[in-house]
Amino acid sequence: HIKLQGLLVRMMAKPSIDSERHNVGKITNKSLHYKGKIFHVGKCYHYCKRKTSRNIEIIVGIIGFQIQDKAICVLIVPVEETFLGEDDQCGDFLQAIHPVKYVKICAELDPLRLTYFKNECQKIRSIPTMMYEPQTIGNWQTFGYMQDKGRPRRVGRRKEMKCIDLFAGAGGMHQGFLHEGFETAIAVEKDSTAVESLSINSKNRMRIHQGDVVNFLQKCRIESYRKQIGKIHHLHASSPCQGFSAANRNGGKNDDKNNKLSLTFLEAVDIFKPVTATFENVEGMWRRANIKYIKQITVGLLRLGYQTRCTVLCACDYGDPQKRSRLFIFAARDYALLPSYPTKTHGIDPSQLPFVLVKNALDIFKAQQNIEVRTTSLKPGQHGVVRLNPDGLACTITASSVPPFHYELNRCISVNEAKVLQSFPLDFALIGSIAEKYKQIGNSVPVEMAIAVARSVRAALLYVFKEEGEDDG
Ligand SMILES: C[S@@+](CC[C@H](N)C(=O)[O-])C[C@H]1O[C@@H](n2cnc3c(N)ncnc32)[C@H](O)[C@@H]1O
Repeated sequence: HIKLQGLLVRMMAKPSIDSERHNVGKITNKSLHYKGKIFHVGKCYHYCKRKTSRNIEIIVGIIGFQIQDKAICVLIVPVEETFLGEDDQCGDFLQAIHPVKYVKICAELDPLRLTYFKNECQKIRSIPTMMYEPQTIGNWQTFGYMQDKGRPRRVGRRKEMKCIDLFAGAGGMHQGFLHEGFETAIAVEKDSTAVESLSINSKNRMRIHQGDVVNFLQKCRIESYRKQIGKIHHLHASSPCQGFSAANRNGGKNDDKNNKLSLTFLEAVDIFKPVTATFENVEGMWRRANIKYIKQITVGLLRLGYQTRCTVLCACDYGDPQKRSRLFIFAARDYALLPSYPTKTHGIDPSQLPFVLVKNALDIFKAQQNIEVRTTSLKPGQHGVVRLNPDGLACTITASSVPPFHYELNRCISVNEAKVLQSFPLDFALIGSIAEKYKQIGNSVPVEMAIAVARSVRAALLYVFKEEGEDDG
């Protein structure tokens, strides 16, 4: 966010933001006398280091004092200067989180000299409780809005963690939640072969609603139907991505309809009021034409009383042998802890495990016979067909395009090889024709990435700021 970054650079904010931290700085004294003025902790002040030609209003909130002439502060900005305000297409962001017109930036500034403090800010009576996590954590596609609620209380493991999986596909995301101890109360998917795969891998134990998510949610508005599903702790949705995808340059006739399905996430959150929720889609949601959907979801979550943060994760950072970037939105009720961004486990840093490379992942197939594979007259280099690099990461395995060629054989990667590049276990069964199998694999969230996301959600569910229903007072 250019405007905001400008301000932060001007004020020499610390570049790293610890999103886990809830108490920014230590409150020392409640007030301080300085050159005939009294400064108060918790109050907001105009700040100006030098006379600037441009009239930039900088407001800071004091959270503590350091020595005699320095204050520990947070930067306060109008909502217009955050992600929701920039290039506003929703038109109603201000009403969305009304009466919150100002938010505090959730990064502590370097201590500021009181010499440069002007008057107390009359527009803002005290430091806002709504925090904004700016798009400056080394990834401009990362931002969040959350309430500053102090230290969360550990409630420990829950007896059960039930989730709903919307647009479940063959169950990539489901594998992640299963791995982390969640029980899927119901999965919703309209494609019959994907439903069969989902069902066979759960040994027919999972409740699956085969049908349209829109119709399903309509039914769920009826209390008796919803009661059959029971209490939901977490809700996940991976709405169709074709309309958002950069690969889909010309646009399909169903793009608008499919893109609007992303908003069913909001409707589902409204109906089930889960403690936490996640949404997944392609990075293309960040394209200029599509960003209105991210804004609508963010605004909608805030309106429903949820905290939210959004980011783009890459599957290879979590142990999948694939360079696949996906947008994730995390949400949590205001009494709960917002899941943090999953910690990268793989990479080039000595503290991380090395990336899983194509040849290491596909090594297990050396002696494989009778493979299921797509045949094509195309060769690598023609119409976007690529050959895998054995010493690199695989390109994104998609649902529709010709699969990449094997790194040393003259054929596309097989169904099983595609499955392994998405980190599915080899015994994961897929139902349908060869084309349907590739499609189910290409549609899935890679399993290691799904595990990393589910782990963050599980960790957040161990804490609350207050019990559900406790008075906010
Ligand atoms: C991106 S994929 C989901 C992948 C899945 N989360 C996974 O990790 O394997 C989207 C899925 O939504 C399904 N779908 C599309 N429109 C739908 C609708 N209106 N109702 C239910 N499912 C739908 C597609 O068949 C597809 O399987």
